[in-house]
Amino acid sequence: MAHASAAGLTAARGDDVTPGAMPAGVQEHRRTPIALLADGVRVTLGGVEVLRGIDLALPAGRWTAIVGPNGAGKTTLLKALAELLPHEGRVQLLGREASAWTHRERARTLAWLGQNQGGAEDLLAQDVVMLGRLPHQPWLGAPSANDRAAVEAAMRETQCWDWRDRPLGSLSGGERQRVLLARALAVQAPLLLMDEPLANLDPPHQADWLRIVRRHVERGGTALTVLHEITMALHADEMVLMEAGRVVHQGRCAQGATHRALEAVFQRRIRVHSLAGQWVSLPNEEVP
Ligand SMILES: Nc1ncnc2c1ncn2[C@@H]1O[C@H](COP(=O)(O)OP(=O)(O)OP(=O)(O)O)[C@@H](O)[C@H]1O
Ligand SMILES: [Mg+2]
Repeated sequence: MAHASAAGLTAARGDDVTPGAMPAGVQEHRRTPIALLADGVRVTLGGVEVLRGIDLALPAGRWTAIVGPNGAGKTTLLKALAELLPHEGRVQLLGREASAWTHRERARTLAWLGQNQGGAEDLLAQDVVMLGRLPHQPWLGAPSANDRAAVEAAMRETQCWDWRDRPLGSLSGGERQRVLLARALAVQAPLLLMDEPLANLDPPHQADWLRIVRRHVERGGTALTVLHEITMALHADEMVLMEAGRVVHQGRCAQGATHRALEAVFQRRIRVHSLAGQWVSLPNEEVP
């Protein structure tokens, strides 16, 4: 976990983080290295301030889920953390200013799966996944045996190896999503950022995805995922709740305070229940 020890800061692992603390969790007593840090991050799009000062410290070697209503700023935050959008404020990856990384270094370190991500429709599935190996390859160099092995492993992991020779445009929504997920995995990056990765996946492949993310963090990697599937998001280690361009709560998924904040962010239209040893989110029939 060399990347994790690079950061000198710590993340919240105890009680809830106080919203607005600067940066969240830095003063917490249990010391966990920080993989991703945002300090006063603001983004304005089309004249509207979409991110209104985000302070976050995300622990390394853990899975954090970002949850919140449509338009809360989740995608914008993920893009700002990946340096895909101009922003005010500071972002650090693995303890180093994000702006100090070269594009290639960052592409090897941070793998990205976007919301409704497009792709070249004519490319074969395996060539799409090979794009994830570009930051590892020399300029104009051919893929190495290592690159080909990484592509095959990622495609087998998301069960899309069987249609490796089919054009992306010929695949169903869920099949296509599994190819794009394989592309992100093929990067073999310590930081995995995914925006609504479960879109179009059927239940067995959602369960596979859970295992993939768990394995990534067990190997010391860090995952940050935006999810609307709240029951799946409750499987994460930490939850960040967003509303109207701000972080309104950060805490462990197992904590009651997180469940209460989660229900509040969705106007109590959902409730968190314990079922068969898992936390599940169900519609609240008694709408207040
Ligand atoms: N180019 C733009 N110009 C103006 N407003 C924008 C632009 N891009 C995004 N927005 C607005 O910024 C807000 C946050 O958008 P964002 O995509 O981050 O939301 P989100 O939390 O990911 O929502 P969803 O759950 O629907 O994916 C939204 O209100 C959106 O309409
Ligand atoms: Mg979004």
